[in-house]
Amino acid sequence: MEGIAQAQPNIALVKYWGKQRGGNNVPSTPSLSITLDALWTRTRVEFSGAHARDLVVINDKSDEAQRQRVARCLDNIRQSTGRDLYAMVESKNNFPTGAGLASSASGFSALVTAACAALDADLDRDQRSRLARMSSASAARSMLGGFVALDVTETDPAARALLDQRDWPLEVLVAVTSTNAKSVGSTQGMLQSAATSAFYAAWTDSAGDDFTAARRAVLRRDFQSLADVSEASCLKMHGVMLTTKPALVYWNGATVEIIHRVRALRSQGTPAFFTIDAGPQVKVVTEAAFVDNVRQAIEDIPGVVDIVPSALGAGARVVDEF
Ligand code: PMV
Repeated sequence: MEGIAQAQPNIALVKYWGKQRGGNNVPSTPSLSITLDALWTRTRVEFSGAHARDLVVINDKSDEAQRQRVARCLDNIRQSTGRDLYAMVESKNNFPTGAGLASSASGFSALVTAACAALDADLDRDQRSRLARMSSASAARSMLGGFVALDVTETDPAARALLDQRDWPLEVLVAVTSTNAKSVGSTQGMLQSAATSAFYAAWTDSAGDDFTAARRAVLRRDFQSLADVSEASCLKMHGVMLTTKPALVYWNGATVEIIHRVRALRSQGTPAFFTIDAGPQVKVVTEAAFVDNVRQAIEDIPGVVDIVPSALGAGARVVDEF
């Protein structure tokens, strides 16, 4: 009873930061993302009567906190499928884990996809997206490729496809400015922001308008409008983070310098915009013809340790090889 799956991280252009009360891991705001192609998580799940508990190895290491998080996700799958076997889980990433590169998004969507394949579970993509969301809300979005929406008007939402990656083949440059794991994880950070940031209510009140504007920009393939709303949503989320007590300062000096360079590029006519999650990496979104131009503008910034180019990619899927 083995399943192997691959999923890729997604980058939110309209962000979510904060969860609804009720314990079902539903974001307090709608979000809109793009799924990447070049970064991936591969996960193998093997259920067997021989295991006395779930065993988890991520990037060749075992960690009890991660084991428990994976086991909780498998518990939800066992509950949905009526199966009660424990599993051996092996997972690997081709990029740094827990450093603001959305490893939980690709990780949990690969885990749910591999586990459902191993159990031959009769769960459709919406059900799998919901199961992934229970463990990491952004993982719901990595179930799908291209441009993806996670609206929160339903009580148990699943991510929905907005536009296929082939219909608007944008490119992303991931500027890595640190490979250290972040000091405050997103679940903890969101709780602190909701409880202490004076900006939190304004953030949740205005997110619906950003989501609507971004959705429209994607459907019209309107780069300038998508750039405006994406940068505004990113900076608003970081405004909430910065005003959390104690403050969540995820940026470093290189992060800020990239922001300035990208804004300067756009004012000179290059289609490019930035977005930043709960970490110091900057993702620059552009069009294929401008990838070299953008790379040249940011690669000499002190502190930029790597630039990973990526097209937009597909959703989580079963694969043959681990
Ligand atoms: O779903 P989580 O716990 O991985 O949190 C994701 C939070 C952000 O990446 C900062 C924003 C987003 O919408 O992906």
